[in-house]
Amino acid sequence: MERTPSTAQPPPVRLVPYGKDDLPQLVRHNSPEMTAHLGGPEAEEKLRDRHHRYLHLNGTGRMFKIVTTDTEEPAGLVGFWEAIHSGHTVWETGWGVLPEFQGRGIAVTATRLVVGEARAAGRHPTLYAFPAATNGPSNAVCRKVGFTLVGAGDFEYPKGRWSRCNDWALDLTGGAPRQPRTG
Ligand SMILES: CC(C)(COP(=O)(O)OP(=O)(O)OC[C@H]1O[C@@H](n2cnc3c(N)ncnc32)[C@H](O)[C@@H]1OP(=O)(O)O)[C@@H](O)C(=O)NCCC(=O)NCCS
Repeated sequence: MERTPSTAQPPPVRLVPYGKDDLPQLVRHNSPEMTAHLGGPEAEEKLRDRHHRYLHLNGTGRMFKIVTTDTEEPAGLVGFWEAIHSGHTVWETGWGVLPEFQGRGIAVTATRLVVGEARAAGRHPTLYAFPAATNGPSNAVCRKVGFTLVGAGDFEYPKGRWSRCNDWALDLTGGAPRQPRTG
């Protein structure tokens, strides 16, 4: 796949708040290819629950569509939400870029934008990401955005499916990342 050289301008994308008409976008993210590191496609009912959850985060996070500014196409989804990590409530982030838009630096640019949103939201000082250890592109996004690898652990997601995930942390207050975690 052709990739944008790292010296090139960041791809022109902006974040648009996830809205009530965005279920079709969520459906496009529910393919076997897009969910290969996330336990596979979700059942329709679960997807509708997810849509509802994204619409009603009410201060406990925000979801966005990633839209190309030149062609106004929806290229992916990115967001942040509250999660319990080592007994603390933290911000967790996650992202997806549709296959036809991948390999252009869109996930990196969109995640940088969402870091700004999480920072502006206040509330929690650290943003975490937990990509599967085998998810090469997603771990690369963490590294390129400036997250620090602070550990790894076995996560149950979805219920009944355990996989090895990396813990990446990014301090939103300008200081050093919080305590490393193992196991
Ligand atoms: C992860 C994902 C969002 C990346 O989107 P993208 O827009 O293609 O990512 P970017 O182009 O911004 O950057 C990807 C980086 O990963 C690197 N990369 C790609 N495949 C890689 C691999 N197998 N191993 C290591 N790095 C890899 C690329 O080289 C690129 O870095 P570069 O710009 O220095 O070349 C996309 O693959 C996706 O949506 N996957 C399915 C959903 C998913 O797994 N989401 C993450 C859940 S935690």
